[in-house]
Amino acid sequence: MTNCIGKSFTLSIFGESHGTGVGGTVSGCPANLELKIEDIQKELDRRKPGQSSITTQRKEEDKVHIFSGVYDNITTGQPIDIFIYNKDADSSKYEALLKIHRPGHADYTYSKKYGHRDWRGGGFSSGRLTAPIVAAGAIAKKILRDHNIKIIGYTKAIGEIEAENIDFDEIEKNSVRCPDNEKAKLMENKILEIKNEGDSIGGLVEVVAKGVLAGLGGPRFDNLKGEFDKAFHSSGAITNIGYGAGSKARYMRGSEFNDQMYSENGKIKFYSNNSGGIQGGITNGQDIEVSLTIRPTPSISKEQKTVDIYGNNTIIKIEGRHDPCLCPRIVPVAEALMAIVLVDQLKQNNYLK
Ligand SMILES: Cc1cc2nc3c(=O)[nH]c(=O)nc-3n(C[C@H](O)[C@H](O)[C@H](O)COP(=O)(O)O)c2cc1C
Repeated sequence: MTNCIGKSFTLSIFGESHGTGVGGTVSGCPANLELKIEDIQKELDRRKPGQSSITTQRKEEDKVHIFSGVYDNITTGQPIDIFIYNKDADSSKYEALLKIHRPGHADYTYSKKYGHRDWRGGGFSSGRLTAPIVAAGAIAKKILRDHNIKIIGYTKAIGEIEAENIDFDEIEKNSVRCPDNEKAKLMENKILEIKNEGDSIGGLVEVVAKGVLAGLGGPRFDNLKGEFDKAFHSSGAITNIGYGAGSKARYMRGSEFNDQMYSENGKIKFYSNNSGGIQGGITNGQDIEVSLTIRPTPSISKEQKTVDIYGNNTIIKIEGRHDPCLCPRIVPVAEALMAIVLVDQLKQNNYLK
């Protein structure tokens, strides 16, 4: 099924961008975990639309409702049902898209595959479906905290502008979620400039998991990179995923790339982390370092050539409220997906009940 992920700690999601709402069911969450609604809400607030002038102006409070699996702020070990109502859906701007495929979006492919689709706001293909992912990620993050695993995501680059001074304390202090405050200002200006042109821009998001133990994942078809890749691509808008040195590896020699090792007080350590914490599909105990290349948002108000559902050539100018750059909102989504995969791994490896 296309809406489910995980083997032992699982998430299934449902909903449409302009339907009643979006939600998910988390199964396999251990009992007796303290879980307050605020734990989930604070993560959803980082993803919600309308946070600043560089995100979509759709105003959703994204208030989370927990229908089951938690009693008295403690998990019961039963499925946790999460629901988030859609309050500010405006389908009128999408009526023009009923018969026209947005270039670069999933309109054409969904139509080809399913014949019938909910065109309002992109239906199931909308970024809105990442809200239940973030909610489930908040639960996963709480579990990871008990295992001293911490996940940090941030915007590394917007177009040509790249963060240089990485200070994790700066990430939530600017609207781009960039750890370099000076570069964040340049990034914000760039996004506004591109937005005013009726266009969109891409970038790079990085996610790091700290405190991961060695031995998670598996060889070949259970390769942890494959598990992460599958999870990250569920977000949409990701065109490339790199681990450690990532695509820079092609310019390196073995003598530069190999993470040389040493032993200190009986502990195995590494001089570098070009493998991104995963070797042969299995964690080596170093930080898991992932970089995600984010494409420019498909919906732009500039005129573009496309075809209608009858196969006629036409011109499209997309209205509606869209993110001019997806990076700031993908940061919490990427963190959530990494957390969900890691909890699933902990459970599969018997670190959780
Ligand atoms: C948090 C989030 C917000 C998004 N917002 C928009 C948006 O406002 N407009 C849009 O056209 N696409 C948006 N997208 C991207 C589309 O969902 C995505 O590009 C589309 O489903 C096609 O998938 P693909 O890019 O992986 O091919 C968003 C994605 C995410 C994760």
